[in-house]
Amino acid sequence: MAIPVGMLAALLVTAFGAHLGLPGDAGRIDPTQVAQTPPFDRPGVFEVAPGRYEVVMVAGIWVFTPNVITVPEGSEVTFIATSRDVIHGFFLPHADVNVMLLPGRVARVTARFPKAGEYPFVCHEYCGIAHHTMAGKVIVVPRS
Ligand code: CUA
Repeated sequence: MAIPVGMLAALLVTAFGAHLGLPGDAGRIDPTQVAQTPPFDRPGVFEVAPGRYEVVMVAGIWVFTPNVITVPEGSEVTFIATSRDVIHGFFLPHADVNVMLLPGRVARVTARFPKAGEYPFVCHEYCGIAHHTMAGKVIVVPRS
């Protein structure tokens, strides 16, 4: 009895106390109209405030658009991403980003890049014959 009660308590504390949870489901879109639906009609990297960026990203077999993202050191980057075909994944291990990209769903996740460098990301959900080639990188350039 104590074990399930303890686990439930731990779950409630992490979900509501520590605000840990699954990446937010920022919305739903028509998966057949991705290229016509804002913001995905204009994928890219956008500076929304000093040091804050939004990356509007579309995943499709077998490429991320954009797949090279350049931001300055110290940036906070919010990825807003979806899939235009099958289920993909977006895994950027250096910044603890790990989300599924589902057709019709918008994933939103924020990461910080305090140090210059190149941080690769990959699709980590099998999506077909060239799944292993589906990758990209965040290039964080020094501020100086
Ligand atoms: Cu996309 Cu695997």
